[in-house]
Amino acid sequence: MDSPSPAEILLSPSKLSSDLTLPNRIAMAPMTRSMAGEGLVPTPAMAEYYARRAAAGLLITEGAIVRADGQGYPDVPGIFTDAQVEGWGLVTRRVHEEGGRIFLQLWHVGRVSHPSYLDGELPIAPSEIPLEGRVPRSGGLSYGTPRAISVYEIHELVEAFAGGAANALAAGFDGVEIHGANGYIIDQFLHHHTNRRDDAYGGTPAAMSRFALEVVDAVVARADAGRVGIRLSPGAYFNMESHPDDAEVFRHLLGKLEERGLAYVHVGIFERTTVFEDLHGTAEEFLRKNYSGTLIGCGGFTPESAAAAVADGAVDLAAFGRGFIANPDLIARISAGQTLEPYDEEMLGRLE
Ligand SMILES: Cc1cc2nc3c(=O)[nH]c(=O)nc-3n(C[C@H](O)[C@H](O)[C@H](O)COP(=O)(O)O)c2cc1C
Repeated sequence: MDSPSPAEILLSPSKLSSDLTLPNRIAMAPMTRSMAGEGLVPTPAMAEYYARRAAAGLLITEGAIVRADGQGYPDVPGIFTDAQVEGWGLVTRRVHEEGGRIFLQLWHVGRVSHPSYLDGELPIAPSEIPLEGRVPRSGGLSYGTPRAISVYEIHELVEAFAGGAANALAAGFDGVEIHGANGYIIDQFLHHHTNRRDDAYGGTPAAMSRFALEVVDAVVARADAGRVGIRLSPGAYFNMESHPDDAEVFRHLLGKLEERGLAYVHVGIFERTTVFEDLHGTAEEFLRKNYSGTLIGCGGFTPESAAAAVADGAVDLAAFGRGFIANPDLIARISAGQTLEPYDEEMLGRLE
């Protein structure tokens, strides 16, 4: 008997929660495009960009900042003003007209910012740990040392994520993905390199997980748990250094997430085969081992490798990022067994 084709495996439906079933196993990974308009408002061109990809099982938007000080890149969309909610309303309307499902990614960069984005103020972070490197598209500015936020400010930030979730629902999204990955503020609390706090938010796995769990609980209070996903990077790999004790923090966090009944956990990584010594394997393997709910894999998938990962149970869904930029018709191509257009960085200059 012939083994099933990638199309047969990937185009099978998947139940994300009691009232949300996806028609296929492919998600579009969140990708910042820096194409928002004045006031960080999503544009009609962004609505068409997402609508063209509506055949994905689930679209996950680019990160949308939950507060003005969450910005670290130019022209990223926000989800904290009425005009932004209205702009996103057009995006969700167009995607739904095309029969799609779309989650908004809730984002705050924390220390991965610069005073030039913050009216001259310092970026905020769990601890005052300097960030090396240059700010992208800034004409050569360097990152610096952030300001450690107070417990009161942590509570305010939790509320900002909850406000972003409420606004996302008001804009018509089917759910939200909490950006807990890739070295941004939630991830900064979860790794020893960036969290040196000795209060209720640092020092032990439970304390280091507290901010992430407070955000999850505040967001779940606004959107049903089945409409909330979270992206995590248990292996520090971007704007971050790894520490042997980080794995224990993520084991604790994943155990607590297990109790919340979220829609999914999503791996935040660029290349899924990257092995992290401290995790004794890949980030995907670590999450699979320590979390029994729906897992979205990501990072360098081809239709063939995605189908193999779903078929052998390594992941439940496969997210494609750059493949979706190069191939708006990715689902149709997989369905027809056609080859994919290769991704080229020049494609980032246009929103097609
Ligand atoms: C241009 C670009 C922008 C990205 N922006 C985000 C983002 O806003 N949020 C996020 O979680 N990941 C972001 N990522 C990471 C992707 O979601 C994904 O993990 C990565 O591209 C690897 O998947 P791929 O090999 O299928 O492209 C971005 C990646 C690219 C290429």
